[in-house]
Amino acid sequence: MTEAARGCKGCGLYRHATQSVMGAGSTHASYLVVGEQPGAQEDQQGEPFVGPAGQVLDDALERAAIDPQDVFMTNAVKHFRFRERGKRRIHQTPNRTQIVACRPWLLAEIEMVQPEVVVLLGASAGQALLGPSFRVGSSRGRRLRWPGDRLLQGPCPALLATIHPSAVLRGGERREELRDGLVADLRQASRL
Ligand code: URA
Repeated sequence: MTEAARGCKGCGLYRHATQSVMGAGSTHASYLVVGEQPGAQEDQQGEPFVGPAGQVLDDALERAAIDPQDVFMTNAVKHFRFRERGKRRIHQTPNRTQIVACRPWLLAEIEMVQPEVVVLLGASAGQALLGPSFRVGSSRGRRLRWPGDRLLQGPCPALLATIHPSAVLRGGERREELRDGLVADLRQASRL
């Protein structure tokens, strides 16, 4: 799948990104965690969650007593979307077209891993599976229903949404509180 995704031109993001970044981790994992898109470091290294947001996520998984070996990490969108400011590449939220274009890759990863739980980190990940009106606020930390249209051929894993780890990074004085909320939601995921 990684090989096939390298040549993906399903939307325009391939033109400026370094490479497509597919999921990583055990294909027998119980948890499949979905972020938004690779960041600048992930874009260069070709692996999801290797930058600062990944550190927050690793720490939160550990606090929630979830074994990292039992997690497959991926993103809703496989190419980095950014705008350039001088030498810096500034993250831009993927749009609906980009999220929908990438959805077959995400569904294929879920079918491949067949996790027990899918954890959606943030609005873009939620919107990829649950539609454009999805918001994290009212939906987080509890089991969610899969949409009516049968997205998966196989069984549907439990589904839970929480905040994106980069919200913790941007949290300023509320950073610990936000981190604790993320951890509480991950603990909830382990109970599903
Ligand atoms: N943010 C994401 O959503 N995914 C990554 O892989 C890195 C940062």
